[in-house]
Amino acid sequence: MSFKPIRKAVFPVAGLGTRFLPATKVVPKELLPVVDRPLIQYAVDEAREAGIEQMIFVTGRGKTGIVEHFDIAFELEQTMTERGKDLSVLDCARATPGDVIAVRQQVPLGLGHAIWCARAIVGDEPFAIFLPDELMVARAGGTGCMKQMVEAYNEVGGNLISVLEVPMEQVSSYGVIDPGEVRGALTEVRGLVEKPPRAEAPSNKIVSGRYILQPEVMRVLENQGKGAGGEIQLTDAMAKMIGTQPFHAVTFDGNRYDCGSKVGFVEATLAIALARPDMGAEVRAIALDLLK
Ligand code: G1P
Repeated sequence: MSFKPIRKAVFPVAGLGTRFLPATKVVPKELLPVVDRPLIQYAVDEAREAGIEQMIFVTGRGKTGIVEHFDIAFELEQTMTERGKDLSVLDCARATPGDVIAVRQQVPLGLGHAIWCARAIVGDEPFAIFLPDELMVARAGGTGCMKQMVEAYNEVGGNLISVLEVPMEQVSSYGVIDPGEVRGALTEVRGLVEKPPRAEAPSNKIVSGRYILQPEVMRVLENQGKGAGGEIQLTDAMAKMIGTQPFHAVTFDGNRYDCGSKVGFVEATLAIALARPDMGAEVRAIALDLLK
């Protein structure tokens, strides 16, 4: 069977980033660099690797720098060319004209509401969602998280979310799945609950920031009331789709760093620096020295 291809990705990036103040007073959290690329670029590169063409940013006030980052910086390129500098460092941030789209989320009503703000651009197609705080890093020689999900989607269709296991004491910070049958990296999703108290969590498998959803979710979100934390939750809307369409979870074969927390951000920076051929050895020596 062949399913409609995943061509569009939504990136909810309207958040205020208060956990990273004062760094995020002027600079959007998504533009903070992990080594030498802004956090958002890792997610966009992961989307491109998965064959996704259109990047839809759901932004808010003060976040337009994110869209600028994917524009062609004419003056910069001109000056670099005149000085004989290598332009390849900029290539990955460029976009094909027309494939970067921004919509606004005027009021911060929750993740479900942010996704719903992109409904006119998503239209009647299945689409991907990336929460850029979750930095998903492929194994050496392996593929990224979304590519693994698209491959699974091509087999089973419907809706997919990425999951990973966390210690039970952490489940109340996340969306949690009620797992059904497991087949390799695929787990059937029987239920979903957002930020349950530990005692009520159906498992320790949490939703980890990557989704492939059918456009019907937009209709569900339209009427979705407030859930956990008084916010319109994407998890609650997805839960209503279970049973009406196939719903699976994919366990990512790779590493995930939670850049929504400061410690996670430092961990991601260190892990990526250590894995880089141009600086890994030097960083390792420095880290070992600091730990003495
Ligand atoms: C959001 C989702 C949650 C998911 C988490 C992953 O929560 O609502 O289901 O597990 O992202 O990072 P937030 O971190 O926005 O509270």
